[in-house]
Amino acid sequence: MADEANGTAVGATQAKPKMGKWLLLVGAVIMLSGLLFGYDQGVIAGALDGIQKTFNTDTAMIQIITSWVTLGALVGALVAGTLADKIGRRLTILLAAILFVIGALLESLAPGTTILVIGRLVVGFGVGVASVAAPLYAAEQAPTRLRGRFVSIYQLAITIGIFVAYLVNQALISNDTWRVMLGISAVPAVLLFLVMLPMPDSPRWFLKVGRKDDAVKALSKVRPDVDAAAEINEIEEASREEDESPSTWGEVFSKKLRKPLMVGIGLAVFQQITGINAIIYYANKIFAQAGFITPEGQAAATTWAIGAVNVLATLIAVVYVDRFGRRPLLLAGLVGMTLSLTTVGVTFHFMDKADTSGAGAGGPTTAGLITLVALVVFIASFAFSLGPVVWTVINEIFPNRVRGRAVAVATAFNWGSAWLVSQFFLTLIESIGNSATFYLFAFFAVLAYIWIWKRVPETKGRTFEEIQMIWEDDDPVQSQRDAGTL
Ligand code: BGC
Repeated sequence: MADEANGTAVGATQAKPKMGKWLLLVGAVIMLSGLLFGYDQGVIAGALDGIQKTFNTDTAMIQIITSWVTLGALVGALVAGTLADKIGRRLTILLAAILFVIGALLESLAPGTTILVIGRLVVGFGVGVASVAAPLYAAEQAPTRLRGRFVSIYQLAITIGIFVAYLVNQALISNDTWRVMLGISAVPAVLLFLVMLPMPDSPRWFLKVGRKDDAVKALSKVRPDVDAAAEINEIEEASREEDESPSTWGEVFSKKLRKPLMVGIGLAVFQQITGINAIIYYANKIFAQAGFITPEGQAAATTWAIGAVNVLATLIAVVYVDRFGRRPLLLAGLVGMTLSLTTVGVTFHFMDKADTSGAGAGGPTTAGLITLVALVVFIASFAFSLGPVVWTVINEIFPNRVRGRAVAVATAFNWGSAWLVSQFFLTLIESIGNSATFYLFAFFAVLAYIWIWKRVPETKGRTFEEIQMIWEDDDPVQSQRDAGTL
């Protein structure tokens, strides 16, 4: 038992972990990284109009300006895997913060679209690097019994970032304020750099590169309530059987890692193909159909019905992920997502049939109001389940030696799927229609439910080392069921 969280742990000095100053700072790192991720994701919708007016851009350029952050993030995530394993989690996060600042400044001072697009790519690269390194760092620094909570704070911060971006969009909508909107993200990036600077790297990374003394020092700094030397010995003992040679990309795709890799990639992909970002991004348009006539009315509905509900429901996960476990939250959320997506599909069926060109003349239609409620249910269901839990599970299922790279692969799949959905959502709507598009998302949610039910084991309350033992079973979920731990 390599952690004090388990009652039988040899190194157990205390059952309840204390939140000391350094552990709180780990929380601040994860919070700032998530804020940047969310803000950069949410702010572009409000900035596009001004950019279009300033540079007189065509639609193709607007799409590039919008989506290249995601492409940059995909590459950033992959690079971060190697970096986080080689130079450490801490330096990788510092690098991400520097990229954020450079990217934000390039964007906000851009004299033309070329520099703007370069700025978007650099910011995207930073988002991608941080989206791998920050949750990884948090998962490795957190006491086992708080690990889910620490990683879901990352998701909470993403949702706060999106919400703040929606608010800024609402407040600053006029021609040239887009420069301020995009430039603002340099502020939390500088803060991230300053908070990260005095922090130690994670003890597990120090151990991985053979710096045992630093591992003990780092652990006793961040968690003064545990017997650091004993705990580090246990972790070392548990990983002794692991091969000592440097980890490689080939190893990530080896047969030995197939089960956790499939779980990580599957969760990453399902999180996106069930439609979250289509809704986050196109909420305004959907609310327009629901009868919210003015852009201000639509923006307000998006800010509160989507942005604020997203934050509030994520709080549920932060509180309950370590109590209820990962599987119950995932499965319950998918039920809510399936029902609400189907409802939106049905109401669109009626809205499509009716002449929506005059929709809203007399206020929101009934079908429109049902859509609004269904979207709130969808966001809430995603926010307490797939949103945070996917990131939590991805960061706890891989063995120490390849964790950085393996997390990077799953994260890159997440960005790749996000890019596909945002790129093809409008095309799908044009070719198969609104209703069928939402039925398709609902269908993927059903598939996700069945697959998680069969393939994703429970990881709550288990140390990293115990989680590795799960994969030794042929059918991990069935074994947990047989053992009565599900
Ligand atoms: C997803 C993002 C999404 C956000 C919404 C995150 O977990 O990875 O793609 O925009 O949740 O809150």
